[in-house]
Amino acid sequence: MRSRTGEPAAIVHAIADSARFARRLAQSLGATFASVRTHGFPDGETLVRVAHRAGADAILVQSFNDPDRKVMPALLAADALRRSGARRVTLVAPYFAYMRQDKIFHPGEPISQRVFGRSLGRAFDRVLTVEPHLHRIRRLSDVTGGRARSLSAAPAIARWLAPRASGMIAVGPDEESAPWIKAVARAAGIEWTVGVKRRLGDRRVQIHFPELPPGAHAVVIDDIASSGATIAAAARSLRERGLRTIDALVVHAIFAHGALNLIRRSGVRTVVSCDTVEHPSNEIQCAPLVSAALAKAR
Ligand code: R5P
Repeated sequence: MRSRTGEPAAIVHAIADSARFARRLAQSLGATFASVRTHGFPDGETLVRVAHRAGADAILVQSFNDPDRKVMPALLAADALRRSGARRVTLVAPYFAYMRQDKIFHPGEPISQRVFGRSLGRAFDRVLTVEPHLHRIRRLSDVTGGRARSLSAAPAIARWLAPRASGMIAVGPDEESAPWIKAVARAAGIEWTVGVKRRLGDRRVQIHFPELPPGAHAVVIDDIASSGATIAAAARSLRERGLRTIDALVVHAIFAHGALNLIRRSGVRTVVSCDTVEHPSNEIQCAPLVSAALAKAR
């Protein structure tokens, strides 16, 4: 990605803990990498400072785990990039938050997904994310109200899984996960199944699976691991079905406090994740798929 003068046509900017992803993205785009400097005032406000070149495209990378802390710096950076002469300001949010509350479940609640999505959609010219939790609202552009693209992590997961997949069965925790578990399993050349999930509270989940071959090696695949309750419930239920080897693979490694312990206690052997949220379990890189989408959409 170079301009006529030979300068990189885009600068990839990153705020703190999204730097690793942003560096990979910059490298794969042939773009310049720059850190957004942040300063925290004693009253809790934030100041950001960007180093941009007028006329270049700006790509800001910010993953929205811990979203309440991160959204304001991202909005400020978008403003700073425009005022520094960015031609176009793109948000790459490897993890996009607030997707579960896509409707009013109880009187008096907001539609958080819309509030979050629209504020980012207004601040940025386009938004790209990986495997957002789209459920009742099917398109990311309906969430942001502007140009937006959601990318599937299924091909990257399948590529990672395929050489390790012999004798494995891919297991999704619920019906909702069926389309992409099927896509991963087909591309990796293995069998798949999904369970029936009931959420009883933030950290209480029950899952039932159909009959499974008792000797099978299960890999539980989910888009998000937050409290860890879903993966732990899936593992417990698979063990009750007689499965002995259970691994877990998630896209967004949120892992709230205590989640990994809960997952390990449920009998999961290894936990692997995509790099959309920085975590020691990251093994599957998604920057190449974001880079390919950006290069195509130029
Ligand atoms: C829910 O529908 C999602 O696909 C995940 O299963 C869920 O967000 C995982 O959350 P937790 O780890 O808290 O069970």
